[in-house]
Amino acid sequence: MPKHILRLIILFVIVIGLFLVARQFLIPESFGEYGHYRANSIEENANHDIKYVDRAECAECHDDIAALKQGGPHKNINCQTCHGPGNLHIEDPTPENIVKETEREFCGRCHNKNAARAKLIKQIDINEHNIESKCIECHNPHEPWN
Ligand code: HEC
Ligand code: HEC
Ligand code: HEC
Ligand code: HEC
Repeated sequence: MPKHILRLIILFVIVIGLFLVARQFLIPESFGEYGHYRANSIEENANHDIKYVDRAECAECHDDIAALKQGGPHKNINCQTCHGPGNLHIEDPTPENIVKETEREFCGRCHNKNAARAKLIKQIDINEHNIESKCIECHNPHEPWN
């Protein structure tokens, strides 16, 4: 066998050997136990703290607000989209355990003029539209045309 072919074969054997050794160290412990993924990730994900609750749960105590919202343009927005995760507040219903933002910038997150945003959501320029007051002084957040 010519020398340069032999050298190539030796090089291949070394590279494959290194690959097999590295593989032992790099593949996570429980990989492949059930399928092409890390079996431990199932338990890890199941153990995350629960932060959000079913959207219907807020209406158990705030049925008036839920009913109001149902009749207005915000009807499809989940309470927790504006008020943040609700699980803690449901276990212990105090104002400290729930977000309540009232600044103009908060409404601007969805409504401020932005050419990249779908025109499905009505846009205003928060630096021009009735700048003398907060949005909620004119628009009820749960029924914006009241
Ligand atoms: C078990 C009954 C109960 C449930 C369920 C509940 N709340 Fe409340 N919530 C209350 C009570 C009681 C208060 C008034 C607390 C106070 O003023 O001391 C309150 C107050 C609030 C406030 C006002 C906080 C503030 O700073 O004034 C918001 C916002 C709120 N809830 C949102 C929600 C959302 C969103 C959900 C669903 C994720 C929810 N609540 C589910 C009982 C509940
Ligand atoms: C578009 C955003 C938005 C959505 C969606 C929303 N809220 Fe609110 N919510 C607000 C804002 C802003 C305030 C503060 C209003 C104020 O201080 O006058 C508020 C205030 C409240 C309060 C305090 C009492 C009051 O009337 O001011 C409660 C309770 C509340 N929301 C519950 C809910 C529940 C329950 C849902 C779902 C059915 C919900 N909110 C959906 C923005 C929202
Ligand atoms: C999570 C995104 C989101 C947030 C936050 C939000 N809105 Fe909306 N808003 C919408 C969507 C979606 C609609 C329904 C589509 C539409 O009419 O623009 C809507 C509709 C409206 C409308 C009716 C527009 C029309 O002529 O149909 C008003 C007014 C309004 N929102 C005001 C507010 C105010 C005030 C706040 C802050 C308290 C707020 N919104 C926060 C998404 C949002
Ligand atoms: C002084 C009262 C007042 C304040 C404050 C106010 N608005 Fe309005 N808003 C109105 C009136 C009246 C209209 C309808 C006439 C118009 O389009 O200007 C309107 C219209 C809108 C519309 C619908 C626009 C459209 O194209 O149909 C949206 C969305 C809206 N406002 C969001 C907001 C947001 C977000 C804020 C806070 C940054 C805010 N408004 C502050 C009175 C107010």
